[in-house]
Amino acid sequence: MAMTRRQLLESGLFASGAATIGLAWRLKEISVLQPCDGAAYQPWCGWPHGTGLLLAANAAILAASPHNTQPWRFRITDSRVDLFADTKRNIGTIDPLFREQQIGTGCALENLVVAAVYAGRRVREIVYDSDPATENIASITFGAGTAQPSALYQAIPHRHTNRGPYLSNKFVPADLIREMEALNLEADAIQIKMWTDASSRERIKELIIAASEAIVADHEQSRDSSRWYRATHAAIERHRDGVTLDAQGLSPIMTAVAKLMPEPSPSMADRVFLERTKAVHCGPGSIFGTLIARQPAGKETRVHVGRLWQRMHLWATANGLAMQPLNQIHERIDREATVQLPPRFTHDLAGIIGESDWAGLFTFRMGYAASPGRPSPRRDLAQFLF
Ligand SMILES: Cc1cc2nc3c(=O)[nH]c(=O)nc-3n(C[C@H](O)[C@H](O)[C@H](O)COP(=O)(O)O)c2cc1C
Repeated sequence: MAMTRRQLLESGLFASGAATIGLAWRLKEISVLQPCDGAAYQPWCGWPHGTGLLLAANAAILAASPHNTQPWRFRITDSRVDLFADTKRNIGTIDPLFREQQIGTGCALENLVVAAVYAGRRVREIVYDSDPATENIASITFGAGTAQPSALYQAIPHRHTNRGPYLSNKFVPADLIREMEALNLEADAIQIKMWTDASSRERIKELIIAASEAIVADHEQSRDSSRWYRATHAAIERHRDGVTLDAQGLSPIMTAVAKLMPEPSPSMADRVFLERTKAVHCGPGSIFGTLIARQPAGKETRVHVGRLWQRMHLWATANGLAMQPLNQIHERIDREATVQLPPRFTHDLAGIIGESDWAGLFTFRMGYAASPGRPSPRRDLAQFLF
């Protein structure tokens, strides 16, 4: 995704090398993200915040979202939460069909439910809205229950997208993958398709790289993606959203050095994004998967995909595993559908999936990370209530 393009400076800096020399003396002054650094990171800090359904909503805003757009709104009463999408918080031509946005609202819903159950609420009913023309996502009615601590709840403040290298000598055991597959509660509608054999793994990696190249070559997609990049501490504090350098999985020293550099030109940022996609995201150490669905265009399906992804990522965090979504293929498929391009990625992904009734909605990698992921900024819950 483009934020990576905007900020993934590491390989470029390594390539140019010399940039670090003479700058080391300043490193102490450089704001490399510390835990609880600034208001934009407060929602992660001093966790938990609030009780009951307020705790649940505070958990919801820590969920994953495309380009960290945080495209959700909540109406909360004593026993009910109404969840809405905020369609204004979108990534334009990167997500023209709101697939990622709707998945993101599902991520928030999952955190909400996990935290509400932890806080002693019982889910009485979830009514999903399937009308693509509305911003309504779901209404969740809660009753009294007994507090249920869970590993997923404990993982909420520790789950971060990890874009750094994953260890090439430590493999995810098959029984853990089976455990992860059992997290799918909608198996009739959604499948977790793992690309475990060498041939399908290579094909999905090649397709991710080709889709990244196509995004870079597409001026509008490149531009819309980079709009969510927050280059400076001031921009992070002002917006409290978007993609940051701190969340790119660079080493602390390279993060610090990158912050000293002027913002890269769009072409430099695109080059670094591609290098990083090839060498790190599609490099050694990761296994890959795609969430596929029978009704890929359905809003409710996408919300369920988001719930599943968030559950998987919480589960992975609890098990010491790292994860990163890699949605470039799907971003190109949606682009093909909206500007009448030849359906290259649509066909190629369908060929890898090989099941005519199913289509891919969300691709990811997982593995054991060399370093922990870092938090991304968040707006306050108050900004999402109405
Ligand atoms: C639908 C969706 C698509 C995403 N696609 C990508 C992606 O292609 N590449 C990536 O690095 N991160 C991707 N992400 C991760 C978000 O950028 C991340 O959730 C957001 O920046 C907040 O960071 P956090 O997950 O660490 O809290 C995606 C997340 C969602 C929910």
